[in-house]
Amino acid sequence: MDKRKPELGVCYYPEHWPEEIWADDARRMVEMGLSWVRIAEFAWSRIEPKPGHFQFDWLDRAIKTLGDAGLNVVMCTPTATPPRWMVDKYPDMLAYDAEGRPRGFGSRRHYDFSHSGYIQECCRIAEVLGARYGRNSAVQAWQIDNEYGCHDTTLSYSPVSKSAFQLWLSEKYEDIAELNARWGNIFWSMEYDRFDQIELPNLTVTEPNPSHAMDFRRFASDAVVMFNLAQVEVLRAHTDAPLIHNYMGRITEFDHYEVGDNLDIASWDSYPLGFLEDRSDRDQDFKRQHMRCGDPDFQAFHHDIYRRVGKGRWWVMEQQPGPVNWAPHNPIPTPGMVRLWALEAFAHGAEVVCFFRWRQAPFAQEQMHAGLLLPDGTLSAGGREIQSLAEELNTMNGIGEGAPRVGLVFDYPSQWAWDVQPQDIQFDYFRLVYDIYRGLRRRNIPVDIINPNDTNIEKYATVFAPGIFSNVETLKAAAEKSQTHLVMGPRFGSRTEDFTIPRELPPQLEGIRITAVETLRDDAPLNLQSAGAIKIWWEVVETDWSVIKQTRSKDPIVLQSGYKTYWAGWPDDAALDDWLGDLFTHLEYDVSEPREKSRNYGFKTGQLAVSYLDAKADWSQVS
Ligand code: GAL
Repeated sequence: MDKRKPELGVCYYPEHWPEEIWADDARRMVEMGLSWVRIAEFAWSRIEPKPGHFQFDWLDRAIKTLGDAGLNVVMCTPTATPPRWMVDKYPDMLAYDAEGRPRGFGSRRHYDFSHSGYIQECCRIAEVLGARYGRNSAVQAWQIDNEYGCHDTTLSYSPVSKSAFQLWLSEKYEDIAELNARWGNIFWSMEYDRFDQIELPNLTVTEPNPSHAMDFRRFASDAVVMFNLAQVEVLRAHTDAPLIHNYMGRITEFDHYEVGDNLDIASWDSYPLGFLEDRSDRDQDFKRQHMRCGDPDFQAFHHDIYRRVGKGRWWVMEQQPGPVNWAPHNPIPTPGMVRLWALEAFAHGAEVVCFFRWRQAPFAQEQMHAGLLLPDGTLSAGGREIQSLAEELNTMNGIGEGAPRVGLVFDYPSQWAWDVQPQDIQFDYFRLVYDIYRGLRRRNIPVDIINPNDTNIEKYATVFAPGIFSNVETLKAAAEKSQTHLVMGPRFGSRTEDFTIPRELPPQLEGIRITAVETLRDDAPLNLQSAGAIKIWWEVVETDWSVIKQTRSKDPIVLQSGYKTYWAGWPDDAALDDWLGDLFTHLEYDVSEPREKSRNYGFKTGQLAVSYLDAKADWSQVS
């Protein structure tokens, strides 16, 4: 089996430092064992200080210095930070928040994905950079933009966005009567005469029509896909190097699979401690216990998502080497965590792990963010750990391929659908899928994340598909054909693509009808006859499938028929552990042993697991 050597890299900002120190920085990076350096993603104002006036000398010399030292450069398009003159040129390029206010200049990501003038400017800068550096031998990869959607920037309620949405709708429906019928606009007299009367679904008196809101979410996702594709097409003409984007954790407002289909490698930015404080649903006790190591499953879940988004090829483009500056609390990682996070990424198949950033910046917004070096240029604790990690990686044989036998569907449109119509304040699609992911990890089961449109699922013995709102036919047919056990969960198949209840009642499975749905208060879970309880969501079903689990009042909850299982509720952890235990004991395969290939990471996976658990144990003792 081919094995890849795991590689390390770093994010570097030559424009932040005097030129005299670049060569020394580059030499130290190589000595530290780094082989990749990412540059220029925020450098537009230095590359083009005035419209059409370029300054390439410094960038030419920076790339040469890094390349001569033996580093591979990831060159970026700087389109996440349009310079001030750009905003003066196109004042209407700013995105608007849901309250209808323009978002200002003075930080980053201040653009609307559907502003055609700005898209042209992005193509122009990509063209200029591609022509200049596309065949430069030091430039071995390209990153387009930086963290689409970060800082809540996918959805924009600007006038520009409104016009683009109206156009998108007119192309989708062609005839306004068709739109009225499919959205059900007769309800509350919401019928339109023309596409240009349709507003964005913000600032309505009460909730907007879910069909309207869902189409807006699809439009916004398409805008990101098109924005990215525009630069892809420009760069492809100039380079054969792989094109990459760096996605951000728990950003779900656009369809990452669709963006990823146009790129060569997926990457994401992994900030375990920042995420735990800033975007995790875990309770305060859990957060306190894990404040210096992060939620162990959160990174793993994203690694597995991006392995699929990158069609097998993925990197960590940024990993925190010490405290970040942007979460409510910003602890120091426990000693060993920076190493372990990187090893965990490699164990999930990452080709490269890059750290953010080389030297801590003494100025501007991220002064409190750790780097591999302190502002005075001496090594930080994270830098020291990374140096010894590089030595350790040198002693490893390389990374082989794994072959998980369990698939878990993650579907971006389902996230949008249930954001639009949660029905319970706690219902969140990401959280539902993540709960099941965590349950599988508790059983040590390796998981592939899959797209609901994937048809090649025969390699999986079992596929879990909770909460998929619509478009379930492909998945059902693929599972049927390959006799893959399909485990469907709450809200599966419960809407049409138009966001209406299907004529054949949910979940659109022969032998099951959902006749009522109840959502549950935190303090009123539905206890089961077996272990655990149902939380947040349960469905009243009429069924002729076998009933495997039921509530204390004998309502069917887990139903089975041949290779199909349906979960008519959201299990708490105890119930999930019980259900998964049953499921995997009754099937005649061992999910922990991949069918064809075995995992070989070049080091014993057992060892990794042990050191990982050790780190967790260490920390819980400290707390
Ligand atoms: C990322 C971003 C970087 C830097 C970093 C700080 O989201 O891509 O530019 O801001 O966060 O943690």
